[in-house]
Amino acid sequence: MQENPSTGCQCPADLLPAHPSLCPDRCLIVYPWTQRYFSSFGNLYNADAIKSNPNIAAHGVKVVHGLDRAVKNMDNITAAYTDLSVLHSEKLHVDPDNFRLLADCLTVVIAAKMGNAFTPEKQAAFQKFLSGVVAALGKQYH
Ligand code: HEM
Repeated sequence: MQENPSTGCQCPADLLPAHPSLCPDRCLIVYPWTQRYFSSFGNLYNADAIKSNPNIAAHGVKVVHGLDRAVKNMDNITAAYTDLSVLHSEKLHVDPDNFRLLADCLTVVIAAKMGNAFTPEKQAAFQKFLSGVVAALGKQYH
């Protein structure tokens, strides 16, 4: 992942379109059962409602920046996500299969953004990175 020269940030969010909620948007639209965890977020009635929901937009920023901790702890992604894994498991009761679905949405959004520059090699590296995140988030489930 390259450093963004204007922000100095080395972060997956820099690869995403200006609106990082595009990934959660896509996940909520393509896999509608994931909406059940966001009942307090207001109107998710249809795709337009999801895309214009400010709570989803704010949450998307949090999630995408939540990937920073993997970038910064590449040697021990599992430890870096212990608290988030406990949160998603014990407090939010998120089915861990959903992590992979969101990871797939991230890949699709980045592929659409990068076009031909998203070479098979880049896709392989990005998916390997995300599979580390997915495994780490699922680690505290029992
Ligand atoms: C909250 C990261 C996947 C549901 C959060 C937070 C982060 C995060 C950083 C905020 C924690 C805090 O405020 O302390 C991630 C990452 C994911 C992921 C990196 C995968 C790559 C998912 C999935 C779902 C989900 C797939 C459900 C389908 C939630 C919910 C909250 C949350 C319901 C709490 C929202 C609120 O009430 O503000 N997640 N998450 N997450 N996440 Fe995830």
